[in-house]
Amino acid sequence: MATKTKSIPFDAAKLPKGKTNWFTHDRFGMFIHWGLYAQAARHEWVMNNESIPVEEYERRYFKRFDPDLYNPEIWAAAAAHAGMKYFVVTSKHHEGFCLWDSKQTDYKAPNTSARRDLLKPMVKAFRDHGIRAGLYYSLIDWHHPHFVIDNKIGPYRGLSDADRAAMNKGRRMELYAEYMRNQVTELLTQYGDIDVLWFDFSYPPSEADKQGDFTEGKSRLAWESEKLYSLVRKLRPDIIVDDRLDLPGAWDIKTPEQCQPREWVTFEGQKVTWEACQTFSGSWGYHRDESSWRSVDELVRTLIDCVSKGGNLLMNVGPTGRGEFDARALDRLQGIGNWMKRHSRSIYGCTAAPADIPTPEHCRLTWNPKTKRLYVHIFAWPFGHLHLDNLADKVDYAQLLNDASELRPMGGWHLNQITNKANTLSLSLPAQKPDVAVPVIELFLK
Ligand code: GLC
Repeated sequence: MATKTKSIPFDAAKLPKGKTNWFTHDRFGMFIHWGLYAQAARHEWVMNNESIPVEEYERRYFKRFDPDLYNPEIWAAAAAHAGMKYFVVTSKHHEGFCLWDSKQTDYKAPNTSARRDLLKPMVKAFRDHGIRAGLYYSLIDWHHPHFVIDNKIGPYRGLSDADRAAMNKGRRMELYAEYMRNQVTELLTQYGDIDVLWFDFSYPPSEADKQGDFTEGKSRLAWESEKLYSLVRKLRPDIIVDDRLDLPGAWDIKTPEQCQPREWVTFEGQKVTWEACQTFSGSWGYHRDESSWRSVDELVRTLIDCVSKGGNLLMNVGPTGRGEFDARALDRLQGIGNWMKRHSRSIYGCTAAPADIPTPEHCRLTWNPKTKRLYVHIFAWPFGHLHLDNLADKVDYAQLLNDASELRPMGGWHLNQITNKANTLSLSLPAQKPDVAVPVIELFLK
């Protein structure tokens, strides 16, 4: 399906960049994947995975969507308790359904039993808890009548080339690109200060796409990313934009998903602002039967791991079709919150430790450059002592963070039995690990 592609003079470097100061301070956000797929309860890609045609998907899920227990105040309170400082919600996912009252489509929450814009009260509830608002917006749309069907993803990818070509007759990708600009304009002008825009995602194909044929994948030509990005910058110059528009130089954050980077994320050799996004159990949308739920301890370690490498964590919740966070999600958020209540000092305003401070075995370090405090997160509690190389001449005072109990240097009698390095600080630890998900030592540097 060949459609004309339009390019505009574009130089990302000449446009404003997103302001990331608050983002790298706050470190921890909540991702929310909520849409019709919550009712299938077996992955937000169910329309693709089971090749469900549009009419059938509408019949099953659009017609029956009835989030009668939806109360965003409860969601926001759970996020606030967990220590999350911003949230990013799927205003529209790949299925094409819109949570808000978009004037561009009928495929939206107000036309379901919800009978209202679901986004507005959500944004308000989170803001009332001091949590910043971000929006995820799917570039992919398996419902829109002008979205050119390709052979890679979507419910019709398995059809023959001829059948897909027949379905593509009359589809004009540029009308879809315009639809996106109109929707993004609504989202960025009618919902107050939106701080993050999370586009998802590009899957560049062969050379064909470059000619304006979108039947083998989609990239910046399909989305008209230059125009979309310029529009976003015009409407909200400071907003943080992710890196999935397939537009070199036109992003503020890198967004690794479902895996943890091994070190501070770099691009062309430079350290960049980054945010890992992770799930509790594997899928992003509500999944009833997944049994791979991660433990609170492990989730806390993931958050720490991100900050120790200079990054953020966006932790996902998939609410149910009736509009609730299910018990498993609430349990994890509660547990994370219990840890954050006593340890958020090692997360907010923190980053990777200076390069000359080695990380002790089984630990992660974070560092607050303003307060000059170093945080040692102990993933495996050692017997008796912890050895901190290169720090003996730098540390003024040491304490456990959970209860502010002083930690004292290892006594001479013990010390004489081990070989230690010259500038090593060896601290005595209680025999029992403090009863918290991850114990943290707070070191006040001179
Ligand atoms: C992927 C998936 C999607 C999810 C997103 C979150 O790109 O398509 O379902 O929304 O990742 O990062």
